[in-house]
Amino acid sequence: MKISIKNLNILICDDSISNVLLLEKLLQDSGYKSITTITNPLKVLPTMLETPYDLLLLDIEMPGLSGIEVIEQIHQSVLHHQFIPVLVLTGNQLPAIRNKALEVGASDFLTKPFDNTEVLLRVRNLLRVRAAYLAQSRMNTELEERVEKRTQELEKATSILIQRLAQVGEMRDTETGRHVLRVGKYARVLSDAIGLPDEIGYMIEKAAPLHDLGKIGIPDKILLKKGKLTEQEREVMNGHAQMGADLLSDHESMLVQMAGSIALSHHECWDGAGYPKGLAGESIPIEGRITALSDVFDALTTIRPYKEAWTIDETVEYIKKKAGLQFDPKLVEVFVSKLETILAIKAQYDDAL
Ligand SMILES: [Fe+2]
Ligand SMILES: [Fe+2]
Repeated sequence: MKISIKNLNILICDDSISNVLLLEKLLQDSGYKSITTITNPLKVLPTMLETPYDLLLLDIEMPGLSGIEVIEQIHQSVLHHQFIPVLVLTGNQLPAIRNKALEVGASDFLTKPFDNTEVLLRVRNLLRVRAAYLAQSRMNTELEERVEKRTQELEKATSILIQRLAQVGEMRDTETGRHVLRVGKYARVLSDAIGLPDEIGYMIEKAAPLHDLGKIGIPDKILLKKGKLTEQEREVMNGHAQMGADLLSDHESMLVQMAGSIALSHHECWDGAGYPKGLAGESIPIEGRITALSDVFDALTTIRPYKEAWTIDETVEYIKKKAGLQFDPKLVEVFVSKLETILAIKAQYDDAL
């Protein structure tokens, strides 16, 4: 949208009423529609704070507050974050005063007595610069808004795709419908409780549901086998951790990287007896430790084709017993302290609902 300089807001401040009226009339006759005049320099700041102005015509020698002081005053609150030209009106020819005005932020000068043509040309030039500045700012804002909107859309799409991908992995499994969703929610509670930053908690919540994505690469006869797995079959089954990580590797999205890390490390054990790498203690990424605990809690407390659901007490007992062996002992403590929240999530996202 093109900005017409004739519609821009002009503020004139001069202690001489005749000067003010002269300038106002000259500008009005030349087609400028929005002119405000004041004779009290103390009013410049409050007036500019109240209404956005595009040009300030400012006398230098005024009683109470000099033009230089006015510029210094408005600089801090009005001028520092945007460009508003200040056209200084001066009868004083001393270079020191002019230089001082320039130094504190004046854009140009008009020498009294005014030459009408010069006044109009300088006003026009400064308003053109202001108009260009406004157009550029508007474009920047629009651009920022557009980028922000696209980023949000992309984030939403990524989040939905991840959810769907987790469901795809789940479809082939015997696990219950809302298992992966609950694991994500439990993981979020633990992340928050141990003080991980919000963005990381968010990513863990979104990425944890993909922990078993690699199971889509496990043959049905092993994945869906009712009885106990042979050692060889167990080995193939355990390959789902690496397979999930491979599916999610080499992507620059932090969320996908997080999901890859969780897929790879959610079967590692605190004592080093887990797989695929046999990592121990804090060398297991925190997101893997958190998901491991969340996953086991949910698996034990829900019914599966091969087992009944354990009671909460039995499950908590088991988890406590495995602190320092299978699970990060500090996380177990936090988990127990957050049990009420965990159980509320469990109830809210129950399979039967
Ligand atoms: Fe798994
Ligand atoms: Fe799981």
